[in-house]
Amino acid sequence: MEGYGVQIQVDGKPFPVGFDAEKIKSGKKIQTYTDDVIIGTYPKCGTTWVRHIICQLMIEDYKPRAGKELFVYTPTIEVVGKEAIDRMSRPRILKSHMTYGDIPKSFEAKYVFVVRNPKDVLVSAYHMAKNMKAGSYDELDFDMFFELFMRGKYAVGCYFDYHKEWLCHLNDHNSLLLKYEDMVADLKDGVEQIGKFLGGRAAEITRDSERLVEVVEASTFNSMKEDQGRWMQDMFKDQQQFVRKGTPRDWKNYFTQEQSDRVDEKFKATFKDTIAENWWQEEMKWED
Ligand code: A3P
Repeated sequence: MEGYGVQIQVDGKPFPVGFDAEKIKSGKKIQTYTDDVIIGTYPKCGTTWVRHIICQLMIEDYKPRAGKELFVYTPTIEVVGKEAIDRMSRPRILKSHMTYGDIPKSFEAKYVFVVRNPKDVLVSAYHMAKNMKAGSYDELDFDMFFELFMRGKYAVGCYFDYHKEWLCHLNDHNSLLLKYEDMVADLKDGVEQIGKFLGGRAAEITRDSERLVEVVEASTFNSMKEDQGRWMQDMFKDQQQFVRKGTPRDWKNYFTQEQSDRVDEKFKATFKDTIAENWWQEEMKWED
C-alpha cells in the first residue's frame, strides 16, 4: 500500500496528484456573483449528469462536443483557478470538489449539492481510477482501493468527512440537495427541482412540458452514454467508460460482506444525529 493514494496537500487538505497548488489557492478566493451557480460534489456522485442538466437549462446555445466539452462550459474552480474564472461571462456555472470550507461563499449565489451512497461511489471511483491514462492505480486491485478510500486517500480526501461538513449547511436558503439515487428513480422530478431552484430561463423550460421532456431525454443514462468525447478532456484509456453503469447497488458485485459492514459502521458513526442518518438504507443493505 505504501506509495499509493498519491495526493498533494494544499493548506492542509488533500487534492489529486497533478493539480496545481496555485490554481487551487486562487480558486478559493474567486469573487462570487448573485447569478453564479456552484455545483459541489464528492467525485462520482453524479456531477457530470447535473452539470449537463444545468447547462441545458441555463445556456441557450449549449452544445457540448469535442473541442468545446462540458468542462469548458462548467469549469472546475480548483483546476482552472481565479484568472480563468474571472474571464468567464455571466451567469457562470462552476463546479468544485472542494470541501465546504474551501468553496467560495456567497449569500446570493446558488449552490447545488449532489450526494450518492458511499458504496456505489467507491466502486465508481475504482473504475475511474483504473481507467485513467495517468496515475498510479494500475496495479491496485479492488481490495487495495477499498482500503485507500476508507482511509481518505482517494482524490480529494475522505468521503465521510466531506459530506459531514456539507450537511451542516444544507438548510441555507440558497442550496439545493439532490440525491443521485432519487434522480435515477425519477429523472423528470430531478430536472424540475433543478429548474425551480434556479429560476429564470431554467424554470421557464421546466414549466414547459415539451421542453422539459427534451431535457430529460437528453439526460438519460443511455443518451449520456453516447459520444462521451462531449464531457471532458481525453484523460481515459477508454473515454466511453466514464458514463459507465449508472445504477444503484453495483457495489454488490464487488464488496465482501465484511467490507459492506465496515462501510455501514463508518456511515453510522459519521452521520449519527445528522439528516443523513437514515439515508440509503435500501441501497446499502447487504441482503438482495
Ligand atoms: P457509475 O460509475 O456508477 O456508472 P461524476 O460525474 O460525479 O464523476 O459521476 C459519475 C457517475 O455518474 C458514474 O457512475 C456515471 O455512470 C454516472 N452517470 C453519469 N450520467 C448518468 C446518467 N445520465 N444517469 C445515471 N448515472 C449517470
